[in-house]
Amino acid sequence: MKAENLFNVRGQTVVVTGAASGIGLAYASVMAANGAHVELIDRDAQALAQALEELGATGAQLHGKIADVTQPESLRQAFDHAIARHGRIDTVFANAGISAGPGFLNGAGERNPAGEVENLSVELWDRVIATNTRSIFLTLQTVVPHFKQHGGGRIIATSSISASKTETLVSSIYATSKAAVGYMVRQYAHELARYNILVNAIAPGPVITNIGGGRLKSPQARAPFEQAAPLHSICTVEDLQGAALFLASPASRLITGQQIIVDGGTTLGPAD
Ligand SMILES: NC(=O)c1ccc[n+]([C@@H]2O[C@H](COP(=O)([O-])OP(=O)(O)OC[C@H]3O[C@@H](n4cnc5c(N)ncnc54)[C@H](O)[C@@H]3O)[C@@H](O)[C@H]2O)c1
Repeated sequence: MKAENLFNVRGQTVVVTGAASGIGLAYASVMAANGAHVELIDRDAQALAQALEELGATGAQLHGKIADVTQPESLRQAFDHAIARHGRIDTVFANAGISAGPGFLNGAGERNPAGEVENLSVELWDRVIATNTRSIFLTLQTVVPHFKQHGGGRIIATSSISASKTETLVSSIYATSKAAVGYMVRQYAHELARYNILVNAIAPGPVITNIGGGRLKSPQARAPFEQAAPLHSICTVEDLQGAALFLASPASRLITGQQIIVDGGTTLGPAD
């Protein structure tokens, strides 16, 4: 089969949460560039307007809706909006998420007291779990009835390599929030298979985005992560577009309950 058929997303309606920046914006961009109608959802009105302007320049069919993924009613309204506009939704990237700060070590390998369990606030725990984990549950609750009614659909979460390994430089709360996403992908893929609903995730290693105040934009901050990756490189958002296209397209028709790791080999362990 030709690549243009294997990876065809033309005419799909795709919803992306956390689409105004970073990885979500890259997902929206690759979907639109390949002929999908894309509904961008984000809580940051200014960033959303800017993202739409940027992507709109390509002439793609794009719309935006301000919504907070931690609020069920806000999410419902945004999805209703997309359905009213396009008649249906085919694929959802449940991507919005936040950092929980550094882990129990700093980049030099010294203890970082602020990241140690006894010093983490319950407020941070609640905020991160609500944004990174509960939001996936709420997104499923919002879109699954629609998918069941329309004979299927795809949900692609953004988890993290933190879902499957312990962390030192990244907060334990963040790792916990993503481990739960990894579990949900398997659990709900199993439950929803009979309705032709595929549930998968993209699990990136560190990616240069605006997350955590954009700290990975600093060469000094990303050095330990580059060192830990056997390929000695961390991801740009473009490095995630191939996996996104694959999981939204006919090429992955029988793939469900899986996480695609994109991490320069980090989860294999240091190589030199
Ligand atoms: N950057 C990384 O190193 C990395 C690695 C692995 C996984 N991830 C995951 O990728 C996803 C995207 O992160 P990113 O790195 O692109 O970050 P980013 O900060 O560049 O973009 C995240 C977007 O999500 C939006 N958002 C945050 N909370 C929201 C909410 N409650 N409702 C609606 N929108 C909300 C923000 O406004 C922002 O536009 C997150 O789930 C993150 O955990 C990131």
